[in-house]
Amino acid sequence: MNNKSCRVVVLASGSGSNFQAFIDETASAACPYIITGLVSDKPDAFALERARKHAIPTTVVPFTDYRNRSDFDAALADAVTAFDADLVILAGFMRIIGGELINRYRGRMLNIHPALLPKYKGLHTHQRCLDNGDIHHGTTVHFVTAELDDGPSIVQAALMVTVDDTASTLNARVQAMEHQIFPMAARWFAEGRIEMQGEQAVLDGIPLASPVVLREEELLE
Ligand code: GRF
Repeated sequence: MNNKSCRVVVLASGSGSNFQAFIDETASAACPYIITGLVSDKPDAFALERARKHAIPTTVVPFTDYRNRSDFDAALADAVTAFDADLVILAGFMRIIGGELINRYRGRMLNIHPALLPKYKGLHTHQRCLDNGDIHHGTTVHFVTAELDDGPSIVQAALMVTVDDTASTLNARVQAMEHQIFPMAARWFAEGRIEMQGEQAVLDGIPLASPVVLREEELLE
């Protein structure tokens, strides 16, 4: 895929700073994808404001509007599918995605998780990293599979934790790196450079035994 033929739908629950990084990327003539829509489960998500500002169509699927989990899953799947996307981006989407939607977009759905997976799946990753006295921390872009924060990793951004770091400073440092590597991974997808084969990420035809790792210094120089 090239020439902006790759259609991307973004799912976000919160501030949407990663979504903004995608929006900014699409301003470049060289960007190989377009954003066709934003789906949120939170009617007050700031990500929705960002979409409106850039005339990106939105759909809100509030979790509490549905009688049960499977009704929500079905509504979410409909909302995502309606945007007719080639690639689904989970940019801080704080709900578990139903198996049917995951299967529909198998190999075409990317998530970013604020830790060096397989470390620290789940929540409070920055604090857990500090509590364990880790020297390294970072963030991971991976293909989405049925397991939470699992699936083949594609690219990680890594930083050195300093004695002054708090969960809040780590969050800021990690997010600055996320804004680089997440649109980058989507670009690789749109250019046909990455794909999921079986349970493995393949970049430029080479199965990745481990993700590409970029350091904070090289990303933010
Ligand atoms: C990011 O830090 C991402 O790693 C996690 O959720 C956060 C979303 O932040 N999955 P934002 O809404 O993109 O600012």
